[in-house]
Amino acid sequence: MKTSPLRGTRDFFPEDMRLQNWLFANFRDAARKFGFEEYDAPILESEELYIRKAGEEITAQLYNFEDKGGRRVTLRPEMTPSLARLILQKGGSLTLPAKWFSIPQCWRYERTTRGRRREHYQWNVDIFGVPGVTAEAELLAVIVTFFKQLGLSENDLKIRVSNRKLLQSVLAALDIPDEKFAPVCVLVDKLEKLPREAIEADMAALEIKPAVVDRIIETLSVRSLDELEKVLDGDFPVIEELKTLFNLAEAYGYSDWLSFDPSIVRGLAYYTGTVFEAFDTGGTLRAICGGGRYDRLLSTFGGKDIPACGFGFGDVVIVELLKEKNLLPELTANIDDVVFAMTESLRDVAMATAAKLRKKGRSVDLVLEAKKAKWVFKNANRIGAGRVVMIAPDEWEKKQVYVKDLASGTESTVSYDAL
Ligand code: HAM
Repeated sequence: MKTSPLRGTRDFFPEDMRLQNWLFANFRDAARKFGFEEYDAPILESEELYIRKAGEEITAQLYNFEDKGGRRVTLRPEMTPSLARLILQKGGSLTLPAKWFSIPQCWRYERTTRGRRREHYQWNVDIFGVPGVTAEAELLAVIVTFFKQLGLSENDLKIRVSNRKLLQSVLAALDIPDEKFAPVCVLVDKLEKLPREAIEADMAALEIKPAVVDRIIETLSVRSLDELEKVLDGDFPVIEELKTLFNLAEAYGYSDWLSFDPSIVRGLAYYTGTVFEAFDTGGTLRAICGGGRYDRLLSTFGGKDIPACGFGFGDVVIVELLKEKNLLPELTANIDDVVFAMTESLRDVAMATAAKLRKKGRSVDLVLEAKKAKWVFKNANRIGAGRVVMIAPDEWEKKQVYVKDLASGTESTVSYDAL
């Protein structure tokens, strides 16, 4: 039997789990600092939750099948539709704003590359019920707080921010009907990834002419809000919205982490306003996280819309970046004490000692077999334990135990009662 996991999926050995638990603790900690509450949902969802017709990659990558009851189901490729389902389920009883986070495993049948897997865990942080960009400003602050927790700085990465209403204004000025907005956004997101001819062919299928594609590219290639005002030539509320967001970032103190970049459009159909994605400044990695505003998702599920925005942050690319920057922590098994009896006749004392220490809240690894002291010390060092507590016949006669602090090397005998 092959022991490796399926292509694009990962096993998590204890040493991998240590890293993963550390990362998730940081996700949770950053969300907690901003008052977000954790939720979860089943990994298996009804396929119809993801049936969208805008040509998104994600809908072609579903791990979908028919279950034994003949229902079309799929492993979730992302969390946002499940979140929308939960919000709709709560209906009028939901207190707004709702600030929720989750760390779901998501499944996409991807072509695997560096940073792209067929399963990944994705920290999702979302706010429902706030129509203004104060919500986006708060989400960006969560992301920056998280990056800082890990020791990253604004020199390591940038969060590129834009707003889909820019593209909407361009399309409206060219009399392109509203229903083409989402599919055009999905195509524009592919501009840097696919050859121009392929994009033009897909645009032609939407009856969008090459001249319109030129105009879109022209607008989206500006790099400052001032320049944009000139290109758009007119009164566009979206410019005010972007300015407000950047001013809020300035007030919070993280504006150095942001850059305005109209080429950010995002590949998911449901975004309606602000969109953002973080990239490493070295430019070697894929997007580290991405999100935006999606004020009209609930009505696509037959519900009443509630303004919403949020982001998804994967567990794969960030670890690549931390490796590159030498910022991965040295993590040990976190064992306080290794307890062992030098002779089998003292095993009962060793067990009582372990129980006593555990009652005090210490993490104790009790040696379960008759082992030599040399093995015990070597193993205790290997797992990074804090102390070895040894029960030896001579000391025990005086109701004492031998304690060695492995970090300092200090050895002492301690009375059992004082332990
Ligand atoms: P997304 O851009 O598809 O957005 O994914 C968000 C993040 O998840 C990416 O930036 C990346 O870190 C990670 N990610 C996605 N696919 C993979 C993969 N195959 N392997 C490794 N990491 C991956 C969404 O999914 C939106 N639902 C996010 C959102 C939440 N928008 C609003 N709220």
